[in-house]
Amino acid sequence: MPNPLLIAPSILSCDFARIGEELARAESAGADWHHVDVMDGHFVPNLTIGPPVVAAIHKVARAPLDVHLMISEPLRYAADYAKAGAHVLTFHIETCADLPAARAVIAGFRAAGVKQVGVSIKPDSGLERILPLLDSVDLVLVMSVFPGFGGQKFMAEVLPKTRGLREQGFRGRVEMDGGINSETIGRCAEAGCDAFVMGSALFGARDMRTELARCRELALKAAPGSVPAR
Ligand code: DX5
Ligand code: ZN
Repeated sequence: MPNPLLIAPSILSCDFARIGEELARAESAGADWHHVDVMDGHFVPNLTIGPPVVAAIHKVARAPLDVHLMISEPLRYAADYAKAGAHVLTFHIETCADLPAARAVIAGFRAAGVKQVGVSIKPDSGLERILPLLDSVDLVLVMSVFPGFGGQKFMAEVLPKTRGLREQGFRGRVEMDGGINSETIGRCAEAGCDAFVMGSALFGARDMRTELARCRELALKAAPGSVPAR
């Protein structure tokens, strides 16, 4: 039985002056998770959301928070983000010098009480870097743009990684992030993704609910046997 397909609007593209209303808007449009992009100005050339802001979001959000850490020291801040309400907490493999270091991050996230642990790979990182970790994570976040900014163009060359994960027998969630819209979501679903991050395509849509429903349909159609999360 495949995992139900999830759509996770990325609040990076929301109007931050009205964040509570934007979360509610995404939820009534059909958001399954809220994707929260955390950047430290070091691992990526942009700065975003600290733990107090995640905690404030968690207070008003009804959908689970899918927290994507694009920070150089994920272990150092794991407890803060877990306490702030991260349901999924994802780190980047590129922040780890070797496999033991990656395993220590995963163990640290679990010790902090994180429900679902994710590992992410940048477009230029090979799948082999995370294969030994597949039995200890719940989610793999495949980046389809270089992390740092919303609104970039989808890189179709990462799709074989998604297929590779399924060929390896990985049954956890495979989430794609970057440039997902009505033109690209079907290809991701067809390749085995079951969670789709969408920033600019949803928050920039004339009607978020219509656009989200349309994209969900396209994903379902491209992945025979798949079911929606709601
Ligand atoms: C990029 C972030 C993405 C971003 C996606 O570094 O990880 O989550 O918000 O935005 P779009 O959907 O506009 O590419
Ligand atoms: Zn992200």
